[in-house]
Amino acid sequence: MTDTVALAFSGGLDTTVCVPLLKEEYGYDEVIAVTVDVGQPDAEFTEAEETADALGLDIHVIDAKDEFAALALDAVRANATYQGYPLGTALARPVIAKAILSVAEAEGCTGIAHGCTGKGNDQLRFEAVWRDSDLEVIAPVRELGLTREWEQEYAAERDLPVEAGKGGDYSIDTNLWSRSVEGKELEEPSFVPGEDIYEWTELPSAATEEIELTFEKGYPVALNGEEYDDVELIETLNELAGSYGVGRTDVMEDRMLGLKVRENYEHPAATTLLNAHQGLEDLVLTKEERSFKTQVDNQWAEKGYQGLIDGPLMKALDAFIATTNERVTGTVTIRFEGGQARVVGRESPYAVYSAEAASFNTEAVTGSIEQADATGVAKYHGFQERLANRRIAAANKEQGVTATDGGIGEESPLSGTDIDQTAKKQEEDE
Ligand code: ARG
Repeated sequence: MTDTVALAFSGGLDTTVCVPLLKEEYGYDEVIAVTVDVGQPDAEFTEAEETADALGLDIHVIDAKDEFAALALDAVRANATYQGYPLGTALARPVIAKAILSVAEAEGCTGIAHGCTGKGNDQLRFEAVWRDSDLEVIAPVRELGLTREWEQEYAAERDLPVEAGKGGDYSIDTNLWSRSVEGKELEEPSFVPGEDIYEWTELPSAATEEIELTFEKGYPVALNGEEYDDVELIETLNELAGSYGVGRTDVMEDRMLGLKVRENYEHPAATTLLNAHQGLEDLVLTKEERSFKTQVDNQWAEKGYQGLIDGPLMKALDAFIATTNERVTGTVTIRFEGGQARVVGRESPYAVYSAEAASFNTEAVTGSIEQADATGVAKYHGFQERLANRRIAAANKEQGVTATDGGIGEESPLSGTDIDQTAKKQEEDE
């Protein structure tokens, strides 16, 4: 029986070097290359196909763009960003891992491998999916402790098809949701990157444009009144918002293993959709829902960053998000301006907004409630703070201490004022 291993393949140095190593060091007879399309540029597929061809490898290219776009739009409903980054790489990994696993199982493989090092997040995200199978999970670069230099020498020795000079480029990961750039001098947090690292975003000019995004149950369905499918919408917004310089971030990112690394990202569509969705939620959710949802959203983003999109917590968070987003239906106007995608208008049949209640021109608030009814509320508001400050001041005085020699708090700045008198009075009334 021949032993076959499926390899997550990009045609770059790491995955190319893995091919002979999987045979020689791990004893596999055959390697199948699998490349998953989550919206990378065409050139990446050409590179993968040409390299596979030169290595005599069978290559499978799987289109997972729809699945990935759907997950990205789930992330929009969760307002998901991790330390300012909209999770492009992170969310793509479980989608890629699942697609490779299906190929491996369909082809009767006994092993499954990736070319990640032992320092990044992707090894964890891939293996979280793969370790649920019976396949042998292999990470040659990590397990054999390979360095880039060693790989380059090995490739030269073996005459492997890797493009000369490639080792000097930035490490770039591109998909529908984001483009990330790292490596070389960018690793140094104080280094100020030049315009050359950006490919999706222009340097913002004075030009502006307004667009309308329509949402149904928290999902974007139309741009300027025209319906789009998920992939098309994201691609269109990447181009349009990118031309106004929207969606650049430079973050100090805390990786899962604790390393703090500098990352640069471009994500025009993600920024636009996230801002628009948040703008609509702000209109239709109650104050309590908004406040609680930020906690749910943070947890969602955390699990998304870890590549753990299928666990029980995630399902529970998704249920809360789905319930609250039942009403996130309506239209948001976004203005591209100065590198920003700013919400400048929003409307929804579910808006928790009453023109009559909020207006300065009408006397009634709503129903039988009138402006004057707020007087009682205003009397109570801050009562506890006023009382606490008075008690602290009185106790300090009695003990002859001031804040500087260890007393709690300071003499109330309100002492002797009207407010002080009111508090004194309230105390007497108690
Ligand atoms: N640090 C990000 C993440 O783990 C993205 C890394 C992208 N990789 C790259 N070679 N640029 O989600």
